[in-house]
Amino acid sequence: VERTLVLAKPDAVRKNVVGKIIARFEDEGFKLVALKKLKLTKEQAGQFYIVHKERPFYDELCEFMSSGPIVAMVWEGENAIARVRAIMGATDPAKAEEGTLRKLYGSNVGENAVHGSDSVESANYEIPFFFSGLELIG
Ligand code: GTP
Ligand code: MG
Repeated sequence: VERTLVLAKPDAVRKNVVGKIIARFEDEGFKLVALKKLKLTKEQAGQFYIVHKERPFYDELCEFMSSGPIVAMVWEGENAIARVRAIMGATDPAKAEEGTLRKLYGSNVGENAVHGSDSVESANYEIPFFFSGLELIG
């Protein structure tokens, strides 16, 4: 059983679709292990997305991710990392399949509603970034 870190990004919070995102993961059979609302500083967003620091969109990404509150959550299930990524859809909502969260709720490649860990290694960095062991209730 895997755990994966999901973020409802600032655009999803502004659009009031956090509940719909949570409901989708519940409907898909995942178990909620942790959840909190918070606002990152630009520096914290930069630490979270440190793997992208050489990418041309890094500054814009950090600016956006610190532009408003987010909702961080950990979901657990069989093959959760890959399954959550499939449910989210392609990074660019315009290229995402029908019915995916980014197609439904994303606006553009920057404001794409959700984040999901892309590997076990990423999840092992991202989950403790937001949650202590005491906050993870399996
Ligand atoms: P995450 O789950 O958020 O990590 O998305 P991803 O794994 O589908 O994409 P990737 O890790 O390659 O990029 C991380 C995030 O950077 C994306 O979700 C976008 O929000 C943002 N991003 C990627 N490409 C672009 C781009 O060309 N322009 C802008 N502004 N943002 C981008
Ligand atoms: Mg990624």
